[in-house]
Amino acid sequence: VPAKDALETVVTFGDHHYPYFAGSGDAAWAALKRELAKLDSDRFVLISEESLPSTLLAAVSRNVAEVGPVVNLVFPGGEMAKNVANLSRLAAATLNAGATRRSCILAVGGGMVGNIAGLLAALLFRGIRLVQIPTTLLAQSDSVLSLKQAVNSEVGKNHLGTFYAPEFVWGNVDFLEQLPVVERQAAMCEVIKNVVAIRPGDHAEVTTLLSPTGEYTAAQYVRIIELAIEQKTAVMKDDALEEGVGLVLEYGHTVGHAIEATLKGKLTHGLAVGIGMTAAAEVASQMGVGDDSVAEMVLDLLERLGAPTTIPREADPGAVMERIRLDNKRGYLKPSPGSRDMILLAAPGRALWTGNKPLTSVPEEVIRAAIDARRSTNVTPLYDARAGQLHSRKAYLGSSLALQLES
Ligand SMILES: NC(=O)c1ccc[n+]([C@@H]2O[C@H](COP(=O)([O-])OP(=O)(O)OC[C@H]3O[C@@H](n4cnc5c(N)ncnc54)[C@H](O)[C@@H]3O)[C@@H](O)[C@H]2O)c1
Repeated sequence: VPAKDALETVVTFGDHHYPYFAGSGDAAWAALKRELAKLDSDRFVLISEESLPSTLLAAVSRNVAEVGPVVNLVFPGGEMAKNVANLSRLAAATLNAGATRRSCILAVGGGMVGNIAGLLAALLFRGIRLVQIPTTLLAQSDSVLSLKQAVNSEVGKNHLGTFYAPEFVWGNVDFLEQLPVVERQAAMCEVIKNVVAIRPGDHAEVTTLLSPTGEYTAAQYVRIIELAIEQKTAVMKDDALEEGVGLVLEYGHTVGHAIEATLKGKLTHGLAVGIGMTAAAEVASQMGVGDDSVAEMVLDLLERLGAPTTIPREADPGAVMERIRLDNKRGYLKPSPGSRDMILLAAPGRALWTGNKPLTSVPEEVIRAAIDARRSTNVTPLYDARAGQLHSRKAYLGSSLALQLES
């Protein structure tokens, strides 16, 4: 595949279609201004959060101002800030700034900003136009490739939300230069998940893209985004609401979320999902329903990325099991006592189905045995050995994980 540092495509999820522009340098900024001008908006309400690099925010604001009036709204960063109180404050500030039905919301930030600004756009006047300007690799390659918009409730993650599509997405890969390595690696774990669960044909190419140092060229980032679009579209073109075949996007998440929550912010979501995939492959193998090639592919890709592949010893297996009982896939299948529903693969790209859901009811003893099998035997946990690199973002994540992890 020839390297290119720009991408212009249309994302199709069911009846929803939206353009995605990814690129770098002056050409990317020119594309943003051209597309914003087409919207003929009376004002642009630029929503972002405090922990974004200020130079990034200033550059976006300056360029948007060349197209039309800009209102800048900045709210506190961190997962805990993705709540109803901030949604309400942002709504008031947007209205007080004179927003009308002709205005556009511009969501500038990671998946957190994208979600709260996306929900605000869906609710304001029952829906005003939204432009997604994702600034993390996870947001560029994953969260903007979804119609899901939500904030957290007092009880758990992403409980209050709806489905809403942007007018377009503009992903500037130059923004990723300032992104911590751990954030890049976490996003790559989700791409690995898409390869294993959806498109094993991408294995060879993704192998060449993975970088253990987290360094990627602009052209590589653009290709990563393009692959993620193709992978997610493969399952979401006919399942825009992610309730049927789209559930395979949750591969690795049952055990992954539980490890993430148990470690209270010491491991990012993406890395936890990576480990969760090794556990899901182990479950399938113990049940005699999964081919060894699944575990082989998961381990090969995670090791090439330099991501952890075993459950850190600090994650108490009993506590992980408790967390699994809160998993967000509850309710799709009729509950069966003593069992939990997981996405299992018979082979790479081939999920096992129960009725019309790619879910399998797994006895808790099997999950527990798989967790024990995947636990690190090292006294020094893998992620500690890589301190500074794999340690997570900010202290706030610790408190946010007191929330039930649901997505
Ligand atoms: N809608 C969906 O389907 C979907 C999918 C995946 C994730 N999500 C949501 O996305 C959120 C996670 O997204 P995220 O990982 O982008 O987290 P985030 O938005 O919290 O960003 C992570 C950190 O990176 C910083 N940051 C952002 N851009 C930066 C840049 N260019 N350089 C340096 N630092 C930068 C942020 O300030 C923040 O501190 C969660 O709320 C999750 O629920 C939603």
